[in-house]
Amino acid sequence: MPQSPTPPKPDLAARRANIAKALDLKDELLLVGAGEAIGIPGGMDQTYPFLAHSEYFYLTDEECEGGVVAFDPKSGWTDFVPEVTQAQRVWEGRTQVPGTPLPALAAWMAARRGRPIAMLGSKLPGITADAAKTTTIRDAFTHARRPKDAAEIARMKLAVAASLPGYAAARRVIAEAAAGKAVTERDVQTEMEAEFFRNGATRTCYSSLVGAGSNAAILHVDPSSRLLKPGDLVLIDAGAEVRRYGADVTRTYFCGPVDSVRQELYAIVNRAFDRAIAACTVGAEWLDVHFAAATDMADGLVQMGVLKGNATALVESDAAALFFPHGLGHLIGLGVRDASGRMPGRQQSTRPGLSKLRMDIPLGAGYTTTVEPGLYFIAALINDPENRTKHKDAVNWPLVDKLLASGIGGVRIEDNIHVTPAGPENLTGGIPRTIN
Ligand code: GLY
Ligand code: MN
Ligand code: MN
Repeated sequence: MPQSPTPPKPDLAARRANIAKALDLKDELLLVGAGEAIGIPGGMDQTYPFLAHSEYFYLTDEECEGGVVAFDPKSGWTDFVPEVTQAQRVWEGRTQVPGTPLPALAAWMAARRGRPIAMLGSKLPGITADAAKTTTIRDAFTHARRPKDAAEIARMKLAVAASLPGYAAARRVIAEAAAGKAVTERDVQTEMEAEFFRNGATRTCYSSLVGAGSNAAILHVDPSSRLLKPGDLVLIDAGAEVRRYGADVTRTYFCGPVDSVRQELYAIVNRAFDRAIAACTVGAEWLDVHFAAATDMADGLVQMGVLKGNATALVESDAAALFFPHGLGHLIGLGVRDASGRMPGRQQSTRPGLSKLRMDIPLGAGYTTTVEPGLYFIAALINDPENRTKHKDAVNWPLVDKLLASGIGGVRIEDNIHVTPAGPENLTGGIPRTIN
């Protein structure tokens, strides 16, 4: 088995200098907690796998339970770390993270008594932070870490390199299902994740999703023992992670030949996908990219005979959101949602399709974002009496009922785009969109 490349180390001094400049603190103190392991309810001594809060990890590159990074603009950065216990050395093989012993934090704080505190990362018990300053400083911190540095991009590329053979394995088993072999959604997940790990993944970036037939319409579908059927659409949303940096990729593959309706649905999403990727340029407002993709797909649904009327109006009335009920994407990198969110002052919409929009920002140079349009036939939305009444004239309900009953499911395609001054760079575009 070939050795996977070692993930590059970040330049933490440069990162911290950049953050200090962006926050521009005067008198405020910044505390960033790694957090503690969370016990499994009823699991006695067991905990969920520990991941340091992403804000702490960004500043330290360490998974240090209980660690605290403190910053005083007048005296700089201090890393407070708990002492590793003998039990942790014995049971986990844990080693000491370098830094100042955690008990010294109390004296550090006492020497600065009365100054306002902003608390990022995980909350630290017994310390009261200034809520308003914490919000403003978190906004500035999040914004400052949106452009990815070289080590971050390099780790993301390693995650993509580990994901590629996983998707090859998925395509292989789907082709076997099309040829008549019994293959379940779980089999697709198993073969795919084995390749992720053989090729350097340290984790999956999130729980892998595999949905065949009607299951492809479950937005966050857990792989089950359901068999793939020839003629199914098979949606896979999965990616590897390397040292906390991941890929978030979706492909919808045909299990053998699929009928013309499924092909048409795929073509509509695929066209909107390509156009949305091309729109990922420096300065583009994410909401505009989202609405353009929603309108493209609404137009496709009108051509298909599923929706009736003008595409822009169908997006405005939320009729299109019956079939595209999520946002176009989110930032990806340090975790699957990375530094998404909204520019200060912008409110989260409660409209269908927009309530789950995970960011409302202009794209900047160096950002890495997912682009993930999708169209689905979701029973819970289609059979909702309120939706039936509200969109009575905008939807061809008999056709929609027929497609729902056929188990068409849905289509999503997702890639990870690095926004650069030279244009969008598709980090995951090497993962084939079709089986052959
Ligand atoms: N993998 C879940 C998502 O696309 O956000
Ligand atoms: Mn995804
Ligand atoms: Mn995503």
